Amino acid sequence: MNLNKLKKKAAWAALDYIRPGTIVGVGTGTTVFYFIEALSTKKHLIYGAVSSSNASTILLKKQGIEVFNLKNFSSLNIYVDSADEINHQMQMIKGGGGALTREKIIAAMSRKFVCIVDKSKKVDFLGKFPLPIEIIPMAFSYILKEMIKIGGIPKHRKGFITDDGNIIIDVYNLCIKDPISMERKINSLPGVVTVGLFASRSADIILMGTNKGIKTIKNK
Ligand code: A5P
Repeated sequence: MNLNKLKKKAAWAALDYIRPGTIVGVGTGTTVFYFIEALSTKKHLIYGAVSSSNASTILLKKQGIEVFNLKNFSSLNIYVDSADEINHQMQMIKGGGGALTREKIIAAMSRKFVCIVDKSKKVDFLGKFPLPIEIIPMAFSYILKEMIKIGGIPKHRKGFITDDGNIIIDVYNLCIKDPISMERKINSLPGVVTVGLFASRSADIILMGTNKGIKTIKNK
C-alpha cells in the first residue's frame, strides 16, 4: 500500500479519540490534511479547533470547522499531529513543514498528543531526517557554527519564512542518542526560537498506518 493511503488510515483512526464538545488541537502537514478531512465529518459534535499554522487554519475553515485563537486557552484535551520521525520512546522530529514552534506550544498545553504516522516514520534513532530549528535571522551564522560543533551539517531552508516571521535551519548528519539533552542544549542557544525535537514532551499515543492495518502504541 502506498504511504499516502497509510497516512490517510492513521488520520481517520484518530477520530476515535475525539470527544463531543471538545476543542481539538490540529497539527500541520500532509497527514494532518487527511485528519482535517476526517474531522469535518464530526464538525457538528466538536466545539471547534485551534490550529498550529496558517496553512491548517485555511484547510479547517474550508471544511467549515471553527478555528479559535490559541492565546485564549491555557490547556486542551487533545492534539492530533504527525511527525517526520518517531522513535520507540515516542520522541519525535517535527518541523518538516516549518510549523514546529506553534506545534510545540500546542503539544505542551495538551493533555493527550495523538501522533498519526505511516510506518515509514518509525526509527530506532532520530536524526536521519534533518533536524529543523527555527531561529531569529540575526543568529544565523552563530547557530550554523554551533551546529557544526556538534557534528551536524546545517543548511538554510532557502525561501522559507515561518508563520512567526523567522527562518529555519535544517541540520543534517545527526544521530541523536539522547534526544532530551540535545533538545535542551539547542533550545538554550540564544537566537533559537524552537528546535524541532519533541523529546521532553513526547507523544502519548501513536496511530501508525501499516499494510496490516492500524498499529496503536500507547505511552506507559
Ligand atoms: C509540520 O511542521 C511538521 O511537524 C509535520 O507534522 C511533519 O513534518 C509531518 O508531516 P507530514 O505529515 O507531511 O509527513
